[in-house]
Amino acid sequence: MVDLSKFIREIPDYPKPGILFRDITPMLADPEALAAAAKAMAEPYVGEKIDIVAAAEARGFIFAAPLAIQLGAGFVPIRKPGKLPFDLHSFAYELEYGTDELQIHVDGVKPGQRVLLIDDLLATGGTMEACCRLLERCDAEIVGCSFLIHLAQLGGEDRLNPYKCHSVLTYD
Ligand code: PRP
Ligand code: ADE
Repeated sequence: MVDLSKFIREIPDYPKPGILFRDITPMLADPEALAAAAKAMAEPYVGEKIDIVAAAEARGFIFAAPLAIQLGAGFVPIRKPGKLPFDLHSFAYELEYGTDELQIHVDGVKPGQRVLLIDDLLATGGTMEACCRLLERCDAEIVGCSFLIHLAQLGGEDRLNPYKCHSVLTYD
């Protein structure tokens, strides 16, 4: 059993003073840790008939394709402005260290499709809340939200209510 926490590097005051950045790049570079992380994120959803795994760029994309393949699902990208070429739904949101906007193709997810939303990390929940709002606009059924890391003190899970969240590593 791989201890994933050993592969998460802590960088104080990045990208702004007061932020403790949880750097997943050492974990991504280790073949066993990467495989264990993707397996642990997918595990609660095996057998849940997931049609689509959806994720926001950039770090969400890293886990989205391996999870989609494990779950027998497709992948739908949620991107920052100026990246998707077709008709869009858009949602603006706040980050722990700034503001941003996310977009999805209007036909990316069909009404009623069962969607698992995923990301590397849940902090304030702004990013995942934006993803949920975009999937609601597609009339998708959101089965849950899966994260590698949950920073529990920032209240992100409350913001995602009533959707169920699963996290592999939680930091208080
Ligand atoms: C990071 C991370 C999550 C988000 C979590 O992405 O990958 O998507 O922040 O923070 P929140 O819960 O407060 O929204 P970031 O916007 O830094 O972009 P990146 O994936 O391109 O690095
Ligand atoms: N995204 C938002 N907050 C973060 C943090 N503290 N570490 C890494 N990624 C983040």
